[in-house]
Amino acid sequence: MNQQTDRIIIFDTTLRDGEQSPGATLNVDEKLAIARSLARLGVDVIEAGFPYASPGDFIAVQKIAEAIGSENGPTICGLARATRQDIAKAAEALKPAAKSRIHTFLATSDIHLEYKLKKTRQDILSIVPEMVAYAKTFVNDVEFSPEDAGRSDPEFLYQVLERAIAAGATTVNIPDTVGYTTPAEFGALIRGIKENVPNIDQAIISVHGHNDLGLAVANFLEAVKNGARQLECTINGIGERAGNAALEELVMALHVRRSYFNPFFGRPAESTEPLTQINTKEIYKTSRMVSNLTGMMVQPNKAIVGANAFAHQSGIHQDGVLKHKLTYEIMDAESIGLTNNQIVLGKLSGRNAFQSRLKELGFDLGETDLNKAFLRFKDVADKKKEITDWDLEAIVNDEIQNAPEVFCLELVQVSCGDHARPTATVIVRNANGEELMDAAIGTGPVDAVYKAINRVVDVPNQLIEFSVKSVTGGIDAMGEVTIRIKHEDRIYSGHAANTDIIVASAKAYLIALNRLYAVLQQKEQEAMV
Ligand code: KIV
Ligand code: ZN
Repeated sequence: MNQQTDRIIIFDTTLRDGEQSPGATLNVDEKLAIARSLARLGVDVIEAGFPYASPGDFIAVQKIAEAIGSENGPTICGLARATRQDIAKAAEALKPAAKSRIHTFLATSDIHLEYKLKKTRQDILSIVPEMVAYAKTFVNDVEFSPEDAGRSDPEFLYQVLERAIAAGATTVNIPDTVGYTTPAEFGALIRGIKENVPNIDQAIISVHGHNDLGLAVANFLEAVKNGARQLECTINGIGERAGNAALEELVMALHVRRSYFNPFFGRPAESTEPLTQINTKEIYKTSRMVSNLTGMMVQPNKAIVGANAFAHQSGIHQDGVLKHKLTYEIMDAESIGLTNNQIVLGKLSGRNAFQSRLKELGFDLGETDLNKAFLRFKDVADKKKEITDWDLEAIVNDEIQNAPEVFCLELVQVSCGDHARPTATVIVRNANGEELMDAAIGTGPVDAVYKAINRVVDVPNQLIEFSVKSVTGGIDAMGEVTIRIKHEDRIYSGHAANTDIIVASAKAYLIALNRLYAVLQQKEQEAMV
């Protein structure tokens, strides 16, 4: 079957490769919330996880397949090493999805063969078709990735790909696993595959790449010019080490420079037909959700979604933009959904107005979550006269952040000032409903709060990152706190928003501690079995 496509397929791997970023661990509810957001964004394929990796990953893939994998929704994909047990597990997790894909991979570079796999090229040539054919017994849509393709011998790669396609792979993905190639090299690799793999017209060529040299997006765009039609990417470019190619950068490059890319798709340069199916207006919101839930902050100067991406500081630039936007802007902030931030609700707004605005923003909350969010909204509206869309998002993201709540904040109170010793009192309720109260002195109010919490929640950890930013402008703005803590080489994050940044700081810390505590408990249970 000819597998060609005249547009780009967006394969989002935020929930798989993105979640491999240190500290980006998400629970099932958070993964579901992100998957919903990705579906609204219009991605074609969601790589929901690696089902064999852990029971948690299995459940997340299964739940996403169930909740989002409808006939009109995205294809749900699960990763599997090229082994029978991995592939069977992925197939089982994916069963509830109307459209499912198994993505199996095996390394092809000599360095991986010799040191990691201890296998010969001949071994790879026989394992790959066998495992692709096995995956094919479960699903029709099978993707094969020769891991570390960027450093593999192209002649050997052609042979592996030919066999994978002959065994039924409908997508062949070319990973630059270590982010080593340059754009010209990566483009040439894709061109070589197109020219030298005899049955290549029976599969879509996909690309996957890491950003170790900051070249992932540039590499992908060269790959597109040479025939790649699926791009594997993540929101905010999160992922293993320096991350993956960023979805928002790829999509907006193909959108803004459509007339440059159109001819590579056999279209006239002036064609206005989009090159991807992404609803670009959902980009900013999805970016914020991923950043909040993973605790992976977006750098201010990050292309497309950074806080400064549309800010003009220099007087000359400001003057130019006021005279004509196009003098210094190549795209509209509106096109990524950024300026849709009008004041929408206030203290007197009722539950219906609240719910319908949330629906317009794409949040369809169940009764319990809606009630919780409405109470929070009322609380915020009491303190802050005007509630914007961004405030609403912060409230909802806070509420759906279902970190297991063993320790819950009942009270935090601080006293500080230039002549006072910063002192904090906290009351934390534990899973047995007991209220644990203590107080501490710190170098500042947040330090005092964290010290007081440490006195009642005895989970040793090291604070490695703490950041506060405001959701909107204005002195009464809500503050968002993101923190990352470390315990035995693993990082746990917490995020909370509140009009009081001390409360947000305490809540963010407890969320991270609850996550850490859940992992410690699980380890204890596993040790007992
Ligand atoms: O980077 C990589 O090679 C991967 C593969 C599993 C596609 O993530
Ligand atoms: Zn990867």
